[in-house]
Amino acid sequence: EHDSTVSIIVVGASGDLAKKKIFPALFALYYEDCLPKHFTVFGYARSKMTDAELRDMVSRTLTCRIDKRENCSEKMEQFLKRCFYHSGQYDSEKNFAELGTKLRDHEGGRVSNRLFYLSIPPNIFTEVVKCASNSASSANGWTRVIVEKPFGRDAESSAALTRDLKQYLVEDQIFRIDHYLGKELVENLSVLRFSNLIFEPLWSRQYIRNVQFIFSEDFGTEGRGGYFDNYGIIRDIMQNHLLQILALFAMETPVSLDAEDVRNEKVKVLRSMKPLQLENVVVGQYKSHTKGGVTYPAYTDDKTVPKGSLTPTFAAAALFINNARWDGVPFLMKAGKALHSKIAEIRVQFRHVPGNLFNRSFGTDLDRATNELVIRVQPDEGIYLKINNKVPGLAMRLDRSNLNLHYAARYSKEIPDAYERLLLDAIEGERRLFIRSDELDAAWALFTPVLKELEEKKVMPEFYPYGSRGPVGAHYLAARHNVQWGDISAEHPQV
Ligand code: BG6
Repeated sequence: EHDSTVSIIVVGASGDLAKKKIFPALFALYYEDCLPKHFTVFGYARSKMTDAELRDMVSRTLTCRIDKRENCSEKMEQFLKRCFYHSGQYDSEKNFAELGTKLRDHEGGRVSNRLFYLSIPPNIFTEVVKCASNSASSANGWTRVIVEKPFGRDAESSAALTRDLKQYLVEDQIFRIDHYLGKELVENLSVLRFSNLIFEPLWSRQYIRNVQFIFSEDFGTEGRGGYFDNYGIIRDIMQNHLLQILALFAMETPVSLDAEDVRNEKVKVLRSMKPLQLENVVVGQYKSHTKGGVTYPAYTDDKTVPKGSLTPTFAAAALFINNARWDGVPFLMKAGKALHSKIAEIRVQFRHVPGNLFNRSFGTDLDRATNELVIRVQPDEGIYLKINNKVPGLAMRLDRSNLNLHYAARYSKEIPDAYERLLLDAIEGERRLFIRSDELDAAWALFTPVLKELEEKKVMPEFYPYGSRGPVGAHYLAARHNVQWGDISAEHPQV
């Protein structure tokens, strides 16, 4: 549209998220010609800065894709010319009105669309939304607001936040980000399920024994301990990122790919789940560990973490879906910081072949001889299916091999960052990958009781050494549900 313009206002422009993700993603979109013809980027924060200083700060965050080097610095220059700054308080309608005036000048009489990205701590979400909505919203186009978690820390505080935001915004204006939904392989889940005949018929309790959602990082909360301690790994990763993936994995076929249809199905499957039970959770916390002369800190060594904190940095959980498709199938989650590897993946373990003809040909490890589908979200994206195969030769000996789709080998393109997809969708008004408020409520309902219980009963986390595989309790939990965690490190799919 030639006579409309989009202003993207990054509130909290000098923060970490803005520098690491938002500005680089906006530039990548610009480079790919995905932004509207008329757009401006405005940084807003308290510190005094000139436009030139903002541009300088932003320029240091921009990178070019390896396959897109040509013209890159030229493009950066052009992009930076579209970036401006306004300094103001987060609770000042007057300062936001000044911002509004500047925006109007840049819009030059075109239809004005405004996207506010709140890259700020949650305790000031409402104030900013109030000021932005009262004093800097668009008069003749749309006004949208992107917010990121934490959305409260339990069902009540999350509902209160939604109520507060809705004093100034309607649901359609609120774009709640869960950046895992912008990841390529998470988006691909629906394609895998619903556009291949061979998977969907198997997608049920009849063929699937268990499903595992695994998130592990090989570094601790270094520098973020102060934030993290108030939340813990269940709120930081499970209640949002892993649960969102679970919902996409387990939902029924949506009526269409429209945002409301997809989100209706996600809400439905979330509401079919039983709230997580304390007996189905294991929590852990990393302790200091010395390896090769290097000492890695304990979680509580962080100065910003209160002494004796019981906040979990690791958790494993078993969840169940009470519907016809999934009755009795354990959905296991595991999330942890300061573990031995950095990985995010989905593992689908299938049942045994009934009356398997080849049982004897496997040797002893029969239990492992079932099919397993692995969707590796990151790093080194890929999808592989473990199948049983005859080892070539005169003996009848079977082993497990991988049918392997390795993204790096198959697709030469670099995969866009999740924030590129999500920012583009927010600009275009595509809501499919954003969290609707009833979805958020359903997600909190599953975790709130157990979070309360963990805190009230002061459940001790099981301590695990920095860089280890995490607490053994996770294995006992899985074993109680007849599950073995897929062995991540033992297998590197052949390229
Ligand atoms: C964030 C969590 O939501 O996701 C962080 O708050 C975590 O603790 C991060 O490190 C992981 O995201 P990614 O995209 O690096 O896997």
